[in-house]
Amino acid sequence: MAPLLLVEDLRTYYVGFGGTRVVKAVDGVSFSVEAGETFGLVGESGCGKTTTCHAIVRLLAPSARIVSGRIELEGEDLVPKSQGEMRRIRGRRIATILQDPMASLDPLFSIYDQVAEPAYYHQGLRGRSLRVRVKQLLDAVRIPSPELRMKDYPHQMSGGMRQRIVGAIAQAGGPRIIIADEPTTNLDVTIQLQYLNLLKDLQRATGVALIFVTHNLGIVAKMCDRVGVMYAGKIVEMQSVRGLFYRPRHPYTRALLDSIPKLGVREALCGIPGQPPDLADLPRGCSFHPRCPRAVDRCLDEEPKSHALNGDGSVRCWLPIGEPAANG
Ligand SMILES: Nc1ncnc2c1ncn2[C@@H]1O[C@H](COP(=O)(O)OP(=O)(O)O)[C@@H](O)[C@H]1O
Ligand SMILES: [Mg+2]
Repeated sequence: MAPLLLVEDLRTYYVGFGGTRVVKAVDGVSFSVEAGETFGLVGESGCGKTTTCHAIVRLLAPSARIVSGRIELEGEDLVPKSQGEMRRIRGRRIATILQDPMASLDPLFSIYDQVAEPAYYHQGLRGRSLRVRVKQLLDAVRIPSPELRMKDYPHQMSGGMRQRIVGAIAQAGGPRIIIADEPTTNLDVTIQLQYLNLLKDLQRATGVALIFVTHNLGIVAKMCDRVGVMYAGKIVEMQSVRGLFYRPRHPYTRALLDSIPKLGVREALCGIPGQPPDLADLPRGCSFHPRCPRAVDRCLDEEPKSHALNGDGSVRCWLPIGEPAANG
């Protein structure tokens, strides 16, 4: 059976200065998401996570181009669709929760209006049944006294509540998959945990799949079933969460794991030396080679292809951790 969402060799570039500057933000990304599963996309800031999400729902900046690739939702390619067609798909079949709840809510409309709109537009609900649905959605994201609070405007709510409202809006059109792009980055840690639990509960109740984008590996461990690690516009390693934490194969994944502080261990933290590369001027060979402790000559000139790992997953590296002679 086809996966719910299949992204295949997606390339999305930002083109500026009359075509002389090309930022290869997404450069050959492939992954799939099954119904009901949570797929994580993780990596340092600037590696192309948000651009990948925006390409899927086609909410790209004007300078961005989907250069090639396929994005299949339930077997149907979204890349050739017009903006009008995408408007009928967004909200109804695939929804988003973005990083900044204040920017995703409209200050001029009440909470009721904003939660009701997708249910009105995509599910054809009207009058009393629309009101009942809004109350139900607000209940599900644990807004206290929803009948009262639905008359409020975004500025009357706390940051955590606003983000929960955004969660309710994402659910309102009854999508099969929700893309959550760093949905808790702007929340306090305690509120963050509540929100992650809430998303898990919603998922259990509705069976919706999630693409969960974060730079926080602790959140990945809590939320995801499988994970793609992004570096410089590419997925450099993909594994089950268990595999990734217990047996990371790409040196970049290893470095990310080593940079997490561990409770009760008084060692110096290992950051990753250097900076992610300029995506408009990538190094030759493997993009990670200037920061990689395992780099050999081949890594300097030849770009590694993605290859399947024993069991499940893939890695893009000439010398993956744990199989020194395989590709040397
Ligand atoms: N509107 C834009 N115009 C030009 N470049 C952009 C734009 N948005 C993002 N980029 C560039 O694309 C790259 C990937 O960014 P992004 O997808 O936001 O990464 P992430 O979400 O992983 O932080 C970065 O180098 C960023 O500077
Ligand atoms: Mg981002």
